[in-house]
Amino acid sequence: MTVEEQYMDALYPEDPVLERVKANIRELGMPEISVAPNYGRLLTLLVNLSGARQVLEIGALGGYSGICLARGLAEGGSLVSLELEEGYAAVAKRHLTEAGFGDRVSYRIGEALDSLAQLEREGAKFDFFFIDADKENYPNYLEWAIRLANPGAVIAADNTLLRGRTVNPDKNGPSVLAVRRFNEQIAQDERLQSAMLPAYDGLALAMVK
Ligand SMILES: C[S@@+](CC[C@H](N)C(=O)[O-])C[C@H]1O[C@@H](n2cnc3c(N)ncnc32)[C@H](O)[C@@H]1O
Repeated sequence: MTVEEQYMDALYPEDPVLERVKANIRELGMPEISVAPNYGRLLTLLVNLSGARQVLEIGALGGYSGICLARGLAEGGSLVSLELEEGYAAVAKRHLTEAGFGDRVSYRIGEALDSLAQLEREGAKFDFFFIDADKENYPNYLEWAIRLANPGAVIAADNTLLRGRTVNPDKNGPSVLAVRRFNEQIAQDERLQSAMLPAYDGLALAMVK
């Protein structure tokens, strides 16, 4: 975390629920790649501002961002979260339950692309999307989000800078190429209104017109 991010986080009181989630993730030896505290607060704020009732998360890990998203849900709203690893989804479910959202979250385990196709078959539509899984599929996830969006839905995506690799012309691996394509798509797609922030590891925001 940068000094500026640390400064801004220190302005807020500790969040024991989310601190515990981070500690558990560390103890369980899971990857420590949950969103940062202030980033999580932004997710809560965005879900709240958008009035979203149906939220879709792609990439659950231990449920840190899931709790942040669920905290912003409108009355009666719910979160669907897609996760490849069954063990991670179980940890996330436990954390969401401990945070009081157990009855408002459901997990779909397996390849997110399969779960997205299944959600379409079920006629599911969403008001808010948080994309935070494998980078190679970011362009696909964007297309799926647009397909599953209610009018006015918000799309947020993490890691659009890939720790500088996105803007380094010497880096051209599959993740980098996919994220560059995703960034161009989100900036230029006429179905979207969007903006990008260089905060944290890069945050893209869009609204489906
Ligand atoms: C960066 S972590 C998510 C962090 C989480 N959003 C948070 O901030 O608390 C990415 C997650 O995506 C999952 N993932 C990776 N590839 C996936 C795929 N093809 N389908 C579904 N989930 C996937 C990983 O297992 C991992 O848990």
